[in-house]
Amino acid sequence: MVVKSVRFALVLALAAGAVSEARADAIDRKIDALMRKLTLEDKIGQVTLASIAEVFHYDKVTSGAYGNVMNFGTAPEFAKVLDAWKKSRLKIPLLHGTDIIYGNRTLFVPPIGQAASFDLALNRAASEQSALESVAAGTNWTYAPMVDLSRDPRWGRVVEGAGEDVHLASCLAGARVEGLRAGGLVATAKHFVAYGFGEGGRDYDAVEMGEPFLRDRVLPPFRAAIAAGAETVMSSFNAFNGVPATANGHLLKDILRRDMRFGGIVTSDWGAIDQLKNHGLSPDPLDLTVATFNAGVDLDMASDFFRKYLPTAIAQGRVSKARLDEAVRRVLRVKFEADLGKRMTLDPAQARATQAKLDPRGREIAIEMGRRTTLLLHNPKDRLPLSGAKRIAVVGGLADSPRDHMGPHPALSKPEDIVTLRAAIMARAEKAGASVDFLEACGACRFPAATDDAAIAETAKKAADTDVIIAVVGETYEESGEAAARADLALSGPQTRLIDALAATGKPVVVLLSGGRPMLVESFIEKVDAIAMVWFPGSHGAIGVAEVLFGDASPSARLPFTWPRSTGQLPLSYDRLPTGRPASADDKWTNKYIDIAWMPRFPFGYGLSYGRTTLSAPRLDRTTATAADTVKVTVTVANAGPRAVRETVQVYVHDVIASRSRPSRELKGWAQVDLAPGESRDVTVPIRIATLGFHVEDGGHVVEPGRFRIFTGKDATTEEAAEFEVTKGSKVAPWEAPIPCVEPGAKPAKRK
Ligand code: BGC
Repeated sequence: MVVKSVRFALVLALAAGAVSEARADAIDRKIDALMRKLTLEDKIGQVTLASIAEVFHYDKVTSGAYGNVMNFGTAPEFAKVLDAWKKSRLKIPLLHGTDIIYGNRTLFVPPIGQAASFDLALNRAASEQSALESVAAGTNWTYAPMVDLSRDPRWGRVVEGAGEDVHLASCLAGARVEGLRAGGLVATAKHFVAYGFGEGGRDYDAVEMGEPFLRDRVLPPFRAAIAAGAETVMSSFNAFNGVPATANGHLLKDILRRDMRFGGIVTSDWGAIDQLKNHGLSPDPLDLTVATFNAGVDLDMASDFFRKYLPTAIAQGRVSKARLDEAVRRVLRVKFEADLGKRMTLDPAQARATQAKLDPRGREIAIEMGRRTTLLLHNPKDRLPLSGAKRIAVVGGLADSPRDHMGPHPALSKPEDIVTLRAAIMARAEKAGASVDFLEACGACRFPAATDDAAIAETAKKAADTDVIIAVVGETYEESGEAAARADLALSGPQTRLIDALAATGKPVVVLLSGGRPMLVESFIEKVDAIAMVWFPGSHGAIGVAEVLFGDASPSARLPFTWPRSTGQLPLSYDRLPTGRPASADDKWTNKYIDIAWMPRFPFGYGLSYGRTTLSAPRLDRTTATAADTVKVTVTVANAGPRAVRETVQVYVHDVIASRSRPSRELKGWAQVDLAPGESRDVTVPIRIATLGFHVEDGGHVVEPGRFRIFTGKDATTEEAAEFEVTKGSKVAPWEAPIPCVEPGAKPAKRK
């Protein structure tokens, strides 16, 4: 039996020990000695992050004016930087950053899909592999993980995150940072803060948010990432409560430094300091430099303002030398703790090997990721797994487009390495004795789309000759990611018409949705036989998808977000606060729309399998507890179906009566269990009472005495519940507030 209690896997690793006190002291002495040798230009170089550009000034690496670089992603590119650096006076190691978001040479399913696996160990493994491949090419720092929560999938960057839930996102933040560190990268928690809550789902837009909500929902994934050893935090592009995050001293000093006890580097986002002029902060680059640096940004990514304007700011006394020294020391500490000195060399053989071929370990993880993230949403007639079909139509240009399989962040992956859905389904069908007709349908299924009704009709005609139709539709890589906000989550172009035409053939239709966010299925869900979300499958995920389609593995993924019926419902999340007039079909004067349904299409946590599992009501090991206790929640899971399955037992909590309004459900833990046909198991999930509290206006975290309900089930709508009473509550300072998946006092695991 495999029961994965999410908390324990992570905590064991965290307990392995961070930088020892002796080493920290030695590093401090080294920094002291070095600081005495640094000129003003050297110091400002350390707070400068210069990006690869058509004209890149390598001599500035040699002079020390560029103390850090980014985006020299390949070994030969980075080799040129190294040559320049070798001639520098002090040879202070460079931070070399690259966006490694879900793989490098090997590409995994993007983070939002990985989240759907609810499998921390698998997420950790993918991050570690991504790091290993990046280190071989000379990168030592990544701008990942993105730990921004979002309840608005109009925002294109939901693809890079972990979805809408703070508990799941925090656990994943920790697992991903652990993996990146284990593979040798310095990690960045981004974007600080609330970047996923931009108005209207538009990228870069302003955010207004109360601080208790910020602390309850938005900060914990950052805290989990920092606890796991993320040494850098990236400030976000958006304004927060009226002040751009890049120049927001309250966020960066009071909250990040004081309340979250962050000791690492704060980097700005790309060109963000320059862009503050568009926020209306000042037209003068000197003012912007002063505002940002004094607000707490330590490193200037790609504006080149610190390098140009800090000397004047310091000469005029508008920035103190002490503030500069503080930022430089932070940068140096990260470099020395991560031992980047040893990494200022490239192993040509290793670099060549990475460029030349895929690592078989990466391939295995990518396939497993495909299996574990294929999310079965609809299968009322058990049409999946496929059986008996002799001729299968695979329809849609996306099925055979390597570039779209790569999603918005291809890193160093190569189109020729991508196993497409078409290829994977063909290979697996062949084993089953079936043949595949690939029908591209239309280049028309690309974005922006031409409306090619003749091509659609022709495709449907051909597909009608087969036994089952697999339609691959969804988003192209340009329709997802940064600067890809959408005002309508319906399938783009003529894709909905394509599905209609395929359904009209009368043949069974299986829809595979590929992309980085939920897409509207209302217009066709009743007409098709099955719907599964397969994300951007990456380099080999399609092999895992094909295995699931043919029943080699049962789907086990669960939704890390609420799937809407209509774009007008957004933003939408399962953990909303209750209202005085809960939605009711019979009463107009309640919390709903008059023109669309109020319920989502699929709730958070939802996903089908090929088994028939039942969960018992929860049993608690106690009926009273204090804030210092743990309650053990046990559920019996039985698989009555004919196939082996993995079930995800989810535990939600509701604080029944409290001084602030509390969500009717909050995920507080989960466990996955593998069950053979006919098998049943008890699964126990421990829940720390301290994690059931909330933040109040002064920033403190309280657990109030009183009744709590524990819900267990397969998604957030479950009604199976048990109750217990907290007899003694607690109130702690912001920095002592519990972090999901992190035991109090846990230390970051050692890096490679
Ligand atoms: C993004 C960051 C990214 C940076 C560097 C920005 O546009 O917001 O997430 O790390 O570019 O590529």
